[in-house]
Amino acid sequence: MKPVRILFVCLGNICRSPLAEGILRYQAQDRPIEVDSAGTGGWHIGDPPDRRSIAVARRHGIDIAGQRGRKVHVGDFEDFDLILAMDRSNLANLKALAPAGSAGKGHLFLDFTLGQDRDIPDPYYEGPEGFETVYHLLSEGCSSLVGKLERLS
Ligand code: 4NP
Repeated sequence: MKPVRILFVCLGNICRSPLAEGILRYQAQDRPIEVDSAGTGGWHIGDPPDRRSIAVARRHGIDIAGQRGRKVHVGDFEDFDLILAMDRSNLANLKALAPAGSAGKGHLFLDFTLGQDRDIPDPYYEGPEGFETVYHLLSEGCSSLVGKLERLS
């Protein structure tokens, strides 16, 4: 079976989207998916995730320390089936980059997964509790996504 290719996008690719990537890979287990993450900004290319994202993932039994930051690029619209942005600003930047006819691959994460028209808040300037909140939102959304993908296959 052809894997569904999913890309998560945030601003820096060190806090939210790497966490979403690790959570979905963990929850999907042996299901046929390919998952990656990227940032709309290029400040953290090659960097590991933020230590607070690594820590919250580790507390929930998920290891994301080996992931590295990269910037989203136009070829991602060819390489992925579904591109989920963490917040509306990320989605607007993503859609501005999309080649003609492919902007429909981009959606707001919580809207697509849980039908909630709201952002995953940026935890970069928050304490550890902000990262815990983000973890739970992402975990709930990814779990719904796994169910959706199962129904599609
Ligand atoms: P993220 O959070 O978009 O969830 O990775 C941020 C990380 C870094 C920056 C902003 C947001 N930054 O300005 O470097």
